[in-house]
Amino acid sequence: MERTFILLKPDCVQRRLMGRIITRFEEKGLNVIAAKMLVITPELAKQHYAEHVQKGWYPTLEGFITGGPVLAAVLEGLEAIKVVRDMLGATNGLNAAPGTIRGDYSSSRQMNLVHGSDGPEAAAREIALYFKPEELCAYEPTITKWMR
Ligand code: TYD
Ligand code: MG
Repeated sequence: MERTFILLKPDCVQRRLMGRIITRFEEKGLNVIAAKMLVITPELAKQHYAEHVQKGWYPTLEGFITGGPVLAAVLEGLEAIKVVRDMLGATNGLNAAPGTIRGDYSSSRQMNLVHGSDGPEAAAREIALYFKPEELCAYEPTITKWMR
């Protein structure tokens, strides 16, 4: 089992697509083991996007990502990091393949609905940035009658 961090960005919240996106991850076989809504501060944005802070487009990205509430979550499942990245599709919604989340719902390079960790180090760093260890609620099914 592997854990990854996702962020449903302000466009996803404001377009009321949170449920659909979470449903896609659940249907694929990923467990939601932590989730919360928050408004990202400029300080947190700079930590989250540390690799991009020097880029010319970073200021507009910061304005976007701090511009409304987001849903931060941790997903757990087999090869969760790669599975989520594959499900997201290419960064620019216009290039993302149909069938991917960005391909199906985004036509923008910036407003691409969902962030997903791009590797094990990023996943560990990003989970720790948004959640305390005790906020992670990993589970195995303990109620099994619904399976019959
Ligand atoms: P990046 O890490 O390249 O993409 P991904 O989210 O697929 O890992 O970039 C981080 C985010 O920055 C991306 O989701 C959208 C935004 N972004 C821009 O606003 N402008 C740009 O030119 C690029 C490349 C990304
Ligand atoms: Mg990235």
